[in-house]
This record gives sequence, C-alpha cells and structure tokens, in this order.
Amino acid sequence: MMPPTPTPDPQSVSTSVTRSAFFIVATVNEDATSRATVRAWCADVANLARAVGKRVPGGNLSCVVGFSSDAWDRLFGDPRPAELHPFREFGSGERVALATPGDLLLHIRADQTDLCFELATQLMNRLEGAVTTVDEVHGFRNFDMRAMIGFVDGTENPTGNEAEHFTVIGADDDPEFAGGSYVLVQKYLHDMKGWNALSVEAQERVIGRTKLQDIELDESVKPSCSHSSLTTLTDANGDEVKILRDNMPFGRPGSGEFGTYFIGYARSPAPIEQMLENMFVGKPPGNYDRLLDFSRAVTGSLFFVPSQPLLEALAEREPGAAGTVDASLDAQPEPEPAAAPGADGSLAIGSLKGAPRYE
Ligand code: HEM
Repeated sequence: MMPPTPTPDPQSVSTSVTRSAFFIVATVNEDATSRATVRAWCADVANLARAVGKRVPGGNLSCVVGFSSDAWDRLFGDPRPAELHPFREFGSGERVALATPGDLLLHIRADQTDLCFELATQLMNRLEGAVTTVDEVHGFRNFDMRAMIGFVDGTENPTGNEAEHFTVIGADDDPEFAGGSYVLVQKYLHDMKGWNALSVEAQERVIGRTKLQDIELDESVKPSCSHSSLTTLTDANGDEVKILRDNMPFGRPGSGEFGTYFIGYARSPAPIEQMLENMFVGKPPGNYDRLLDFSRAVTGSLFFVPSQPLLEALAEREPGAAGTVDASLDAQPEPEPAAAPGADGSLAIGSLKGAPRYE
C-alpha cells in the first residue's frame, strides 16, 4: 500500500497539484482592534491547517497567506520586504491588467473541496469582524489539467529544486525575508463563445502549443505574440527565468460565467510584471497576447508571502516598535506616477522603469 502523501509544509508555495483550490482576498478593517486580530491570527494559521488536514490523510491540504504592501505597513511596519509594492497596472483601453483592493490573500489547496471549505471556514471564523472579503473564488481542476480555454495549463512550470530556486527569496536577496515569496493574482473572465468560434489551429497560434497533445509549436510557426512566447523570459545571462503558476478554472455555467484564476509565485515580482507588460502592452508594444481578446482581467493584486517562522513571529509584531509612526498607518499609498503615452498610444501604465529587464 502506498503511504499517504505527507501534509505540505505550512506556507510552502510549491505543493503537489491539487484537485481543488479556494482563493480569498480580503481587506483589513481600519480600526486598531481589527489589526490586532489579524496579527494574532498569523500564529493560528498553521495549527488550523494541521488540525483540518489530519481529518483526511493524503488529502494534500495546504494554505498560503500573503499580505499586500499597504497591509504590511498598517499591520507590521518596518522592516518591510524589499520588493513589496502596490500592484502595478499595465496596458490601456480595453486591455488593462487593473489593480483592485486586497490586503490579505488566502490560497487554500486540497484534493477535496470539503477540506478547502472547512479550512476556509475555520480561518475566516477567527477573522470575523476584522476583515471584509472582497473576492472569493472556488476553483476546480479540469480534465487533463486543462484551463477553461481547453489547453493544458502548467506544463512549463518548474518543479522540485528548480521551483524552489525561482520562488523562494534567498538570504542574498533580502536577508530578513529569506524563505518568503511574492505572489500575484488576477481573476479573468472569458468570452467562451468568441474563443470557441476560432478554429483549433488559430487557438493553437494564440497559445503557442497544440491543443490535444500540448506540444510546443515549432519556432518557425509560433507567432511572436503567442502566449508562450510573450511569457518566456531570459535574464541578462541568457538563462530562462520562470515563475510557478497554479491557475484554476472556475465558473457558473448557469449564469454564463467562465473564468481562470491566475496565480503566479516568484522570488521577485519583477518577472511576473514583465510577463504582464509583454501580454498587455505587447513586445514590442502593440504585439500583445491575443488571449486577451477573449479574456478580461477583473481583479489584480500583489502580495508578499512570509516564511512560516516569520508568519508566526509577525503575531508578536507591533508597528511603531521599529521606528514606524502609528499616525501614518491610515495614510493612503503614494499613487503611481502618470505615464506618458508611448509610440503605440499605450500608456504602458506601471511600466518597469528601474526594474530588472528580461528578454
Ligand atoms: C487568462 C489567463 C491565462 C490562461 C488561461 C493561461 C493559460 C496558459 C496555458 C494554456 C499555457 C501553456 C501551458 C503551460 O506551460 O502552462 C500557459 C503558459 C504560461 N503562462 Fe499562462 N495563462 C493565463 C495567464 C497568464 C499570466 C497572467 C501570466 C503571467 C503574468 C502567465 C504566464 C505563463 C507562463 C510563464 C507560461 C509558460 C510559458 C513557457 O515557458 O512556454 N499566464 N498559460
């Protein structure tokens, strides 16, 4: 008999692929009591996940918790993760990766929906009165790991040590936040009638892979605007830079809603933002991802995921203790400077000035 799969480490971003996932994004209420409740909760997350997970050995229950830039300042103050900033918007007009509110992300995964449901219930009970849920999506694993649009999703994900290398902040990057990660989420809604009206060959050129067998198209026929071309990055040394995705389809067929919840983990937000810029603005500008003609991003938020020891330590953290002034807690974050229109007329909002560039 196979031994049951061990429960994944708390706050571990790379877990085995699961059948089910809940995504909850919430804002933390303004008052000091709510902030204290959320801080205290940080010490409970792993215990609750362990208690619920024990009920189904091998159920692969895990939970990752992330905090937005604004929430970090209000809840924990300095020091703060070096690359944590408000979500940067990309694109213009109909095609925008827009920023939406969200202080706290819960990414709950398991092989059974009841495990996700029970853990979400327990975690949210402890947060009652302290947070306001702004978005909640229950995703399911589709046939053959296929995204809502019918293509296999996740094939080029890094695995094992490679996944860790690309997702976990190293001691050299940001010593106080080593072991943590960044995560970017976006909820997409699809025009499935429009997408299904394309021929399979046309869909394959949009994605850059074959639909049935999930094989990458040959470079000689793969368009430079294919999803796979625009999201493949290399660094200054010519080495590929990857992120770890665990997208989930979701929807309500009775209401005509068909969606993909995009979730990408990385050791820095920069590569994920570069991919968004390539997709929404285009590379070069105008050569954008045609998947966006059939998919609209309706949410967008960036979070920092502390390592498990840091998450527990945060329960004891008081903003102001390390020099943060409490009176500044309710101040609004600085708005991103307005971008000048580019050659293609795109505002390229949030374009990556000063950030590392990838090809
Ligand atoms: C509408 C939402 C999306 C859908 C349905 C979708 C679907 C897919 C599919 C079917 C693939 C090919 C198989 C694979 O390697 O996983 C893929 C690849 C990929 N996607 Fe997406 N994706 C979406 C959004 C995004 C976003 C927003 C990003 C990044 C910001 C992204 C990054 C990637 C990357 C890095 C790859 C692998 C490229 C390669 O190495 O060939 N995707 N996606």
